[in-house]
Amino acid sequence: MSDKRILLIIGGGIAAYKSLELIRELSRRGIASRCIVTKGGQEFVTPLSVSALSGEKVFTELFDLDDEADMGHIQLSRSADLVVVCPATADLMAKAAGGLAGDLASTTLLATDKPVLMVPAMNVRMWEHAATQRNVETLRADGVEVMDPDEGAMACGEFGPGRLPEPMAIANRIEAKLSGGAVLYGLDSKPLAGRHVLVTAGPTREPLDPVRFLSNHSSGKQGYAIAGALAKAGARVTLVSGPVSVPVPQNVDLVPIETAREMLDACENALPADVFISVAAVADWRPSRAAAKKMKLKEGEGDPHPTLELSENPDILATLSRKKKRRPDLVIGFAAETHDVEDLAIAKLKRKRCDWIVANDVSGDVMGGAMNQVSLVTRQGIEDRWPRMTKEDVAVRLVARIVEEFDDESDQIAAQ
Ligand code: C5P
Repeated sequence: MSDKRILLIIGGGIAAYKSLELIRELSRRGIASRCIVTKGGQEFVTPLSVSALSGEKVFTELFDLDDEADMGHIQLSRSADLVVVCPATADLMAKAAGGLAGDLASTTLLATDKPVLMVPAMNVRMWEHAATQRNVETLRADGVEVMDPDEGAMACGEFGPGRLPEPMAIANRIEAKLSGGAVLYGLDSKPLAGRHVLVTAGPTREPLDPVRFLSNHSSGKQGYAIAGALAKAGARVTLVSGPVSVPVPQNVDLVPIETAREMLDACENALPADVFISVAAVADWRPSRAAAKKMKLKEGEGDPHPTLELSENPDILATLSRKKKRRPDLVIGFAAETHDVEDLAIAKLKRKRCDWIVANDVSGDVMGGAMNQVSLVTRQGIEDRWPRMTKEDVAVRLVARIVEEFDDESDQIAAQ
């Protein structure tokens, strides 16, 4: 992310101070911010503090001879990879939706040819007002990404949606967009159209008798988020999943299964696929024999401590990876570890013969939680360590990386 830059427009609102935190977080990630502060914005943050944090000249006026001589407003609007409006006030969004160009911020938004991300923050009634909602809809239809505001207590004393999302979440969204995630949010761009992707998710259940089973804590959230992001990117998605309680994303074909052996059969049946992503937490062992009737505790007779005999389950990832015929072009595994995460992932990639491993550190609150911290390991070694982000953002970033891989491949074919 070292050569990326955004143009940050800071609107007038009590949340404007959070844009300073955002600039800091972005710069920590190697993303430079060039800033415009609106008149209203200057009531809450000073151009001097913005300039000190961003390390760059701050722009405030449309008709300023010095500014124009430095960098014309048209040039300014194109000087970054992404334009971010944060906080996006009701007024700024109304101007942008209506195509007004009476000040530097709105002129820049009209003149830019770069993707635009708006991060709204305002009073709940203002956010819910039909005019604001109409403007948001217009902006989205114009291809602008408008983040949903957070819900909670507001500076004005009211409660509801309208709060600025946390700077960390905004930075994640910016990073996802800069790393190619923009294609997924575009309205008509379907970079994976014509590709079939097979995804496994959730836990498996290995029956002991008709009412008991061995299983694990996998929630399915990460796998489902990946399936949803793939479908948004236009792929045909088959999701083979163990029992979970997350909703099935739109345009995804769900194949529900319970045991590891059922999962393997369902995967074999779903081939051929261009990509296989193995996110499921497959039980390594199953009870060697599942009792046909419920096992009973017989007081006073028999063995009070029955032993459980286990058999090894098939390794679905390794089986599909090692296929001579119908091996998917790109096979991606997940490796959840509590220690030596990356070293173990490299060893796992070799052992299972997959192309990439997404290594995640599950020593904290990852299992069942909303956040994830992963590294991408390829056959060449550790490619990237991604910052802690939501499972949705991990999904978008992974899908963007897959799109890149196929783009590179078609470039190579075209060059031959
Ligand atoms: O060996 P370990 O279980 O840590 O490997 C994790 C990866 O292997 C995950 O991608 C998981 O979905 C896959 N796996 C599998 N079948 C198994 C065990 C793991 O597909 N029986």
